[in-house]
Amino acid sequence: MTTNAIRIAPSILSADFARLGEEVQAIDVAGADYVHVDVMDGHFVPNLTIGPGVVRALRPHSRKIFDVHLMIAPADPFLEAFAQAGADIITIHPEAGPHLHKSLQAIRALGKKAGLALNPGTPVDVLDHVMDLVDLVLVMTVNPGFGGQAYIPLEDKIRAVRQRIAATGRMIDLEVDGGINPETAKAARDAGADVLVAGTAVFGGGPGQYAARIAALRGS
Ligand code: DX5
Ligand code: ZN
Repeated sequence: MTTNAIRIAPSILSADFARLGEEVQAIDVAGADYVHVDVMDGHFVPNLTIGPGVVRALRPHSRKIFDVHLMIAPADPFLEAFAQAGADIITIHPEAGPHLHKSLQAIRALGKKAGLALNPGTPVDVLDHVMDLVDLVLVMTVNPGFGGQAYIPLEDKIRAVRQRIAATGRMIDLEVDGGINPETAKAARDAGADVLVAGTAVFGGGPGQYAARIAALRGS
């Protein structure tokens, strides 16, 4: 058995940054499974967002899984800071370099789950020699950098990753990130995704709608 129940990971990139603690509490109460934190450095991706200090400040606001998506290069110098700040999962991009295998080992050595993110143009083959070090594979369905972009239909890629996960016999999360709304969530779920990241589709309607919007993505 290598498929988990569907989990929803709201991306706080689309939350109200002036009220981030309350926003994290609100999605927790509304049924979020993971709190997805998009970390951008203005270099690996053309946007600047959140650092480890913000993760540390948010940590007391929820006991849900903190799913930290690092879009920074290099990532290695910051792994320990995010681990100590309270990340549960730390996801890196292979292009962040320089040594993917070593970076994944470093995340595991910090006692955290290690994720590997595949940009839309990054081939699935990058998983070839690191699958035993990976606890989560993130399939990006937009080019990283901004919330609110249109979903790129990569269901064939999601299916290919699902097959690779099945071949390991281990529980590895298959997370899809970018342009997820109730319709694209269904396409991603049907292709084998079991964790869905959503920024705009959760936060777009304000706190009164968080629970309904999370439920709509779960599709149950
Ligand atoms: C994109 C980020 C995503 C993004 C999702 O670089 O990794 O997590 O915030 O936002 P939506 O759901 O609005 O596409
Ligand atoms: Zn993300």
